[in-house]
Amino acid sequence: METEKKVIIKASNLNKEYQVSKTETLKVLKNINVEIYEGEVATIVGPSGAGKSTLLHIIGTLDKPTSGEVTFDGESVFSLGSNELARFRNTRIGFVFQFHHLLPEFSALENVCIAAMISGQSMKSVEPKAKELLSEVGLGSRLDHKPSELSGGEAQRVAIARALINSPKVILADEPTGNLDTKNSDEVLNLIFDLRKKYNRTFIIVTHNEKFAEMTDRTIKMTDGMIVQ
Ligand SMILES: Nc1ncnc2c1ncn2[C@@H]1O[C@H](COP(=O)(O)OP(=O)(O)OP(=O)(O)O)[C@@H](O)[C@H]1O
Ligand SMILES: [Mg+2]
Repeated sequence: METEKKVIIKASNLNKEYQVSKTETLKVLKNINVEIYEGEVATIVGPSGAGKSTLLHIIGTLDKPTSGEVTFDGESVFSLGSNELARFRNTRIGFVFQFHHLLPEFSALENVCIAAMISGQSMKSVEPKAKELLSEVGLGSRLDHKPSELSGGEAQRVAIARALINSPKVILADEPTGNLDTKNSDEVLNLIFDLRKKYNRTFIIVTHNEKFAEMTDRTIKMTDGMIVQ
């Protein structure tokens, strides 16, 4: 018997428009409806300009739709006030971007800890968990390295540890391997599968890597602001 899948994120009738001139609006997302299930690794693929990053940012509450709704565990996220929304985002969602966006002045360990300190924890209390996560991503011997003292793949793995520090249910990644060579990107992708297996986290990943997309549970294809099957 197939176990019932639990919807964790539901996007309904999402539209995103930009007013590019007085007379012209650009429709970037056109009535998007999509459900994401708990524990799945889903990829979003499609040509450049299709609206993948826009959709990911709206799902992650980093951006607002022109119309439509996103619910997370049944809760409508855009009806939260801005403080509540910031708190929600910080504790429930982890982000990994194409470029790691680590703070250059801080070590790998500090970069991971800072993400937890933003949600009110002390450096001392988060340090053990940060070390454990960094070991898990294979960087137990690189704790004191600053981003410039890490390889691209290592920096991206620090960014993944950082995304996981607050134990978010969902991790959103926008081309996490877009900037890496084949070996490093394979490592990052294997890590994502290991983490899913271990923690049953949900991953939504925008990628141009077809091989990776084929390995995931589901591929959502986008073209011209729409989801195509
Ligand atoms: N602030 C903005 N104002 C106007 N148009 C925008 C803005 N941000 C994005 N767009 C347009 O929205 C469309 C979708 O952009 P988006 O970044 O979502 O594409 P994408 O699918 O992620 O592409 P890529 O694979 O190149 O990253 C693009 O045509 C882009 O030019
Ligand atoms: Mg993009």
